Amino acid sequence: MNVRSWLKKTKDIIPSLDAELILAHVLGVDRVFFVSHDLDELTSEQEFAADELVKKRANRMPLAYLTNYKEFYGRGFFVNENVLIPRPETETIIDLAKELSPKSILEIGTGSGCIAITTKLELPDTKVRAVDISEAALAVARHNAVRLEAKLDELKLSDLLSNISLDDTDLVIANLPYVDKNWDFLSPELAYEPEQALFANDNGLALIKKLILDLEAKDYHGYLMLESDPSEQPAVIDFAGQHGAKHQKTADFITLFKY
Ligand SMILES: C[S@@+](CC[C@H](N)C(=O)[O-])C[C@H]1O[C@@H](n2cnc3c(N)ncnc32)[C@H](O)[C@@H]1O
Repeated sequence: MNVRSWLKKTKDIIPSLDAELILAHVLGVDRVFFVSHDLDELTSEQEFAADELVKKRANRMPLAYLTNYKEFYGRGFFVNENVLIPRPETETIIDLAKELSPKSILEIGTGSGCIAITTKLELPDTKVRAVDISEAALAVARHNAVRLEAKLDELKLSDLLSNISLDDTDLVIANLPYVDKNWDFLSPELAYEPEQALFANDNGLALIKKLILDLEAKDYHGYLMLESDPSEQPAVIDFAGQHGAKHQKTADFITLFKY
């Protein structure tokens, strides 16, 4: 079977862009390759491998897990089912961090490492440390740091701030789990992402509130940047305000506070 016939065969099963990206992944080429190679013959191994990925995609496994790849802020990150797939709305964190030009960032809940690694590459003179509660996620973040040549200053296991000091941190960044399991618009793709990266109790706010309290208890002085669903922002701003974190600004999913 040639490329064109294979793409035609998958047309009614998954979106054609997904099919092209799956085949490009299997062949180890860029999608534009097919423009001039649509009559190339596939080997039976290639066809089998691509068919298997189509079946998984049809079962709503996210494309990023099938190709182990997701772009974030213009760079390619390795991802697997141990980490949240980086979202475009999270890129605003990088823009805001660049505006603040902090001396020392601490990221809580780094997952694939996309935020910590990108801030280190965009702000090379800034000290960047990051933690996660999942050792499996940290392995992915370490892998990405090596691949993208980002020299993070620290990357370690910690439940929020329990195993890391604030030192000279002047910006804490956290895209913690903020999804409430009861929301009725959750997509089937979410079932493949780690629960620990998505869901939190207390209407999705349990971990965000805990971090706000922990920073207050540690007498932190500096900025705090949080991602949450826009519907949660009034509650986050209110809670932070009661615990020493003054709201500075909101940009899409991101809120900025100063202690
Ligand atoms: C929403 S994901 C964000 C991942 C990545 N920073 C991003 O923006 O794509 C949340 C991350 O927080 C981690 N996490 C959950 N609970 C945590 C805790 N108590 N302490 C530290 N990290 C935690 C999860 O393992 C997950 O990697």
